[in-house]
This record gives sequence, C-alpha cells and structure tokens, in this order.
Amino acid sequence: MVAARAGASVAIRYPLTMLETQDKHGLGLPYGRIYNFSAGPGALPVEVLEEAKDDLLNYKGTGMSVMEMSHRGKTYDDIHMTALANLRKLLGAPDDWGVLMLQGGASLQNAMVPMNLKMEGKRPNYIDTGHWGHLSLGDAKLMTDVHVAYSSEGTGFDRAPSDDEPQFTPDVSYVYYTSNETVGGVDYLRDATFNTDALVVCDASSNILSRKFDLTKYDVIFAGAQKTQGPAGVTTVILSPRALEVAAQQKLPLMLSWTKAHKAHSIHNTPPCFAIYMCGLYYQWLLKNGGVDWIAPINERKAAKVYEVIDEGFYKGHAVKENRSRMNITFKCPTEELDKKFADEAEANGFSTLAGHRSVGGIRVSMYNAFPESGADAIAQFMREFARKNG
Ligand SMILES: Cc1ncc(COP(=O)(O)O)c(C=O)c1O
Repeated sequence: MVAARAGASVAIRYPLTMLETQDKHGLGLPYGRIYNFSAGPGALPVEVLEEAKDDLLNYKGTGMSVMEMSHRGKTYDDIHMTALANLRKLLGAPDDWGVLMLQGGASLQNAMVPMNLKMEGKRPNYIDTGHWGHLSLGDAKLMTDVHVAYSSEGTGFDRAPSDDEPQFTPDVSYVYYTSNETVGGVDYLRDATFNTDALVVCDASSNILSRKFDLTKYDVIFAGAQKTQGPAGVTTVILSPRALEVAAQQKLPLMLSWTKAHKAHSIHNTPPCFAIYMCGLYYQWLLKNGGVDWIAPINERKAAKVYEVIDEGFYKGHAVKENRSRMNITFKCPTEELDKKFADEAEANGFSTLAGHRSVGGIRVSMYNAFPESGADAIAQFMREFARKNG
C-alpha cells in the first residue's frame, strides 16, 4: 500500500491511513469521510466499519475472515443466529414470527410474495404509490390476477392514501403497499390500518428500523438491507404466524420458499455470510444506542431541518406535506440547469450523490439511520446559501 506524491522525483511511500484521514472538504468527519446522501447502498455507521476492519483478516482469533469460513461451522453459526435474534429484538417480533435473511434483493420478493401467499379463488390487491410499488405490481401481474386498490400515478406519485381510500375486492388475499417510496420520497408515516381481514404485505426497504413498526398491522415486512440495516446482499423478510401458515401450503423450489428458509434459519443454502455479519454489527450498533426509539427522533430532526429550507420557497418539494419522507427528501430547483448546478456544487463541497433518481430528476437528499445529524445541518446551510446566490 504505497502512493507516489505527484511531481516528486522519487516515489515517497505513505501509509494508506495517512491518505485516508485527509479531510479534503474540511467537514471534520473521521477518516476523511464525506457526507454520503446515497439512496442505497447508503452510509454505514463508522463504528460498524471500524469493527469490520479490525475483524477483517483474523476474525476474533479464528485465523480467517468471516468471508472465508464455513457457513456450517460454529463461529459463523453464532454470528448468524445472533444477527437474526437482534433483528427480532429490534423489531419486537414475537417468537412465533419468522425472521428470514434471503438473497435476490428486495426485487426478488416481488415474485416471492405472490408465490408464497397464493390462495385459491382469491387475488392480491396492490396499492401503487411510486416506482417500487409499481414494479412489484408489474411482477405480480405476470403471475396472477391482481386488483389495483389505489394508485397515485395520476398525481405523479406524490402521495400515499388515507386508510379508507383504497378500494379492496371481496376476494382479496393480501394487501400490498410500500411504506416509503424511495424514488419519490413518499412515506405513509404510519402503520396503515386497512379495512380488510386480508394479510398485509409491506415493502419497507427504505424505512425498516428507522421508526417503530407496530407488527400487529402487518403479516409480511420485507426490506433490502442496503439502506437501513447493512450492506447489499441481504433481504430481511418478517413473517406473521398467519403468513407462515399460508406459505407452508405452497410447493416451491428451495430458493423461492419462505417455509424452507424459515425451517433452516436462512441457512438453507450458503448464505451471504459477510453481508449478514455486517448487518449483525449494524443491529448491535442500533441496540447499544437504544434501538429504534433512539434513532426515530433523530431521523425526524434530520428531515425537519431540510424541509424547513424547502418551505422557505426557492425549492419545490415533490411529496405532499402529509407524506413527506423522513428518509428520502425529494425536491427541484426552479430550473433543470439549477438542479445540475446544485448537485455539482454540492459534490465539490463533499456532499455526495444528491442527484434525484434517473427516472424523475431533481434532487434527492437521502439520510438513513447512519447518516450523521451534522450532515443535515450542513446540507440545510448549503441549500440556503445556494438559494440566496441563485434566487
Ligand atoms: C422501496 C424499495 N423497494 C425495492 C427496492 C429494490 O431493492 P433491491 O435492489 O434490493 O432489489 C428498492 C431499492 O432501492 C427500494 O427502495
């Protein structure tokens, strides 16, 4: 690990750590880190990365990294089972609920949900509030007859419905919704209570563990880990006893069956061991600090700082006020040119990945659990300054 100083006639060797700690933008963050607004994979807690770094070459004296050890050995088994138990604890999931860690991303659940919850003579009802719900609906339609109980497409996916707006069919098997639409920045900001006895399925990929979820209002919650739980490569799936019962009736191949994964504690094949280990460190970090009750008000405060600037008038927010996401704040500058200038100037100041999703443009400020509160203050100040100079 060496680096040559530009212009020096003799290559000078620097330890990598010296380069790593250069704070190019004067942000005062450790290791020369910058404010990372990526919508996913998102920022991880520095403590988690530090612990992983310490463990990387020789995990707790085993003489190997977690990436190199057998998933059938005791060391990995402890890592795996502790991660599952801590996720259960963070969510407050009772023992008779399933807590799975699967592969294939949240996107594979778009297919696994209809497969595992197939019910003779019944059909799923979908609530479509944006990019991800829309994709999920499309996948479900390939497999079964689906009813769209509500869609906000007509208003540009800027809102979520109130509890009594969706129109369900009498033969509904499950209701499907997305608690936080990551692209549009549209959040229910509540545990929806639907007027039906059907199972309730929720894609919570971008807000699981960012606030408390009342599990009595859900049967299936699934989430890709790469925003609020750890790195990409793991998808957590939480199943109520009712959902487990329906899934147990299906005949499905190994990798598509919730039941088979559940029975094997998600070691039904080689799991993504390192990603699960990282999620485990993340869960420990959250638990150590006080869990979801600790992080939820911090997330609210961070988002409020940015919405306050939007409400000053220069920027135009995308979501209606009642559904403004705490995780992904989406807005536009007065012109597309200014959107680009905003993202470019921000990048030059150490604020990374602020351009909106390629399908909608504008700006997206994503601040998940591990994103520091100082970054919310910093971006709010940058936004005010930008508005003053360009208004
Ligand atoms: C709400 C939501 N659902 C699903 C997905 C797809 O996740 P994956 O890339 O893990 O398949 C994403 C990714 O950003 C998301 O934000």
